[in-house]
Amino acid sequence: MTVTVEEVGVDVVLPLRSAVLRDGGPAAMPGDDDPATVHLAARTADGRVVGVVRLSPAPCPWQPARAPWQLRGMATDPAVRGTGAGRALVAAGRELLAARDADLLWCDARVPAAGFYERMGFRVVTAPFDVAGIGPHVGMLTPLGAGGRRSS
Ligand SMILES: CC(C)(COP(=O)(O)OP(=O)(O)OC[C@H]1O[C@@H](n2cnc3c(N)ncnc32)[C@H](O)[C@@H]1OP(=O)(O)O)[C@@H](O)C(=O)NCCC(=O)NCCS
Repeated sequence: MTVTVEEVGVDVVLPLRSAVLRDGGPAAMPGDDDPATVHLAARTADGRVVGVVRLSPAPCPWQPARAPWQLRGMATDPAVRGTGAGRALVAAGRELLAARDADLLWCDARVPAAGFYERMGFRVVTAPFDVAGIGPHVGMLTPLGAGGRRSS
């Protein structure tokens, strides 16, 4: 399926983030309105939002980096899973962060999604840990820029 990924306001990402990641509950995260935070949405040709993700500069808990960014709030519509919307969002995020001279992208990955991030070039760097009310996670990261290109 072809999607177009674009930078959007947080109001565009919240409905899908809420439905997929918060069981329909409140889905705002600290830092959503920070000027450095970037929200991306993947849309189908008819304009429907089928995937969202957020990127923001944040120190990586596990590896020193010059310009680390965190990925959060990754979600795709269950109706389009496995058709490339998630990949398109991560690819667009990598491109955008390369332009911002970021050198590392990291995330707290839900364990059932870790395989997706591995497909996207991330590696697991922690033992599983629990996030209250959500479930088991692992820390994952991927180099960006020249390092990222070498590893992909
Ligand atoms: C994880 C998620 C974002 C993946 O989105 P998606 O739109 O299905 O991803 P894509 O279709 O672009 O998949 C890209 C590749 O990853 C694979 N993949 C997708 N989800 C996977 C998973 N959970 N485990 C292993 N591989 C997975 C796909 O098969 C595809 O493989 P390919 O390289 O052979 O084509 C989506 O399943 C989701 O929203 N899950 C629920 C919310 C969630 O857990 N978000 C992450 C929070 S940390």
